[in-house]
Parts: sequence; C-alpha cells; structure tokens
Amino acid sequence: MREIQNSPIGVFDSGVGGLTVLRELYQQLPQESILYFADTARLPYGNRSAKEILQFVREILAWMAQQKVKMVIMACNTSSALALEAVRQEFDFPILGVILPGAKAAVERGKRIGVISTPATAKSQAYRRAIQEIDPTAQVWQLGCPRFVPLIEQNRLWDVHTQEVAREYLVPLLAHDIDTLVYGCTHYRHLEAIIKTIIPSSVKLVDPATYVVQAAKKELELMGLSKTSLASPTRFAVSGSSAAFSHLSQQWLGYCPSVESVSLPIGFVSTFPREQVEVLE
Ligand code: DGL
Repeated sequence: MREIQNSPIGVFDSGVGGLTVLRELYQQLPQESILYFADTARLPYGNRSAKEILQFVREILAWMAQQKVKMVIMACNTSSALALEAVRQEFDFPILGVILPGAKAAVERGKRIGVISTPATAKSQAYRRAIQEIDPTAQVWQLGCPRFVPLIEQNRLWDVHTQEVAREYLVPLLAHDIDTLVYGCTHYRHLEAIIKTIIPSSVKLVDPATYVVQAAKKELELMGLSKTSLASPTRFAVSGSSAAFSHLSQQWLGYCPSVESVSLPIGFVSTFPREQVEVLE
C-alpha cells in the first residue's frame, strides 16, 4: 500500500490545456507527484471523431498504466466527453473526467449556463446532459470554438486577432443573457485575461479544473491513496516536439521543464529532448 500511495497521479491533455489542471493540483494537492502527458503530435483533439479520441485515450491510459500511476485525471474535456465512460472499466486505477465536476459547480452558480468548448465536446452534448441531470430547469447554451486551441498552442495569447476571435464567439453567447460561463475546454483558461474583457463581471466563470482536483482529493482520501511525503518533481512527456512544449509551457510553469518524448502506441521512451524549438507563427 505504501508504494502505491507514493505513485504519481497521471494527468493528460492534447497539449498545454491540462496545465490549468496541473496548477490546481499544485495548489490543492502539493504533496502529490504528477506525470503529465500531452499528445501534441495529434492535437487538436476537438475536431476529431469519437472513434479517434477513444483510440488515443486508450493508448495514453495503457502507457500511464505502464508508468504505474495510482489515478488518472483526464485534463481534457473532449476526452472526458467522448471516452471516459468507455475506458473507466478497462483499467484498474480510478479515472476522473472534468465534465461532471464542472457541471456540478455550474448548477450551484446559475440557471442560464453558457459552455464554451471544442466542437467535439459541444456536439457530444455532454455538458447539457450532465447539467440537466442535476438541475432539469437549468438552460444550457453550448458553443464550439474551434479557433481557440490552435491560437493558444501557437502562443498567440495576446494577439489582437485572438481578442477579435474571442469577441466573435462570446458576444452572441452573451445575447442569451447567460449568468454563468463554463470553460468547457482546459485550454481556454489560458485566455482568461481576454475573456474577462468581454464577459461582464456579473457572469460567473466556472473552471472545471478547480473542481476535478477537489474530486480527486476526496477520492484519494476515500481510497487511502493520499501521499503524505513530499512530491517528486513533475515528470512531463509529449508525443510531439518536447522542445516546443517546454518553450510554450514555461510561461505558466515559471520554469523551463525538461520533457520526455513518447511514441504512442507504446514504443520507446527517450528521456532526452531531441528536437529543436519549432518555429511558431
Ligand atoms: N484541452 C482539451 C479539451 O479540454 C483538448 C483541446 C483540443 O485538443 O482540441 O477539450
């Protein structure tokens, strides 16, 4: 038992979106060791089919199992919406998604709920279902925002163009007189500064990252899996360019992480970042 308590929590996303969940883990569960995987070779996930997402998620979880994680947090709404139910029973560690914790938090805050997400998450209706299962009287407007993830992954967070794109997405959503807005994609919190210039302060912002980590904390306690000693440094792995991920993520991490390359389905794991920094737009 002692050994499993010390095992890392696996966290994955298509890219840097899951760092918003990692930040919450650092705040709420500072003693836990984390293994973070970003499937950057195959992002964005949000325009892909359910079949592809399910296959990718299975591959990632198989790799995580090999790394001996004690729990996995899907720090990706698209994976949580399209694959969580199917894979939950296939692995012998608990797997948590962001949709249900996000939906619970949203219904506690409002009745007219906007959800911005990838097109795949919006199409799945996962948020509408989860929200209305808890509160059938809540109204939900889901909006797919396909341009956000590429802009974030290209580090165009502060571009005037990004501001215009955000306005294009959010102004029509505001016309529904929403009282709550859910970040239905983990990447979007990285645009919070821009989003807050468009959304009135009366609209409550819900970041499911906060609540999935609360749920993880409870689950670890319940299962007697909480780590009590100091955390090991976070281990980062990506399927694409390790140098590009390291370069992009340092603005949120506050340091330049060393990042492993992993080929999926499970192949070799190199601990040496090999690629040059990609030239980003
Ligand atoms: N950050 C992920 C999500 O929450 C995936 C975004 C993408 O790759 O399109 O859905």
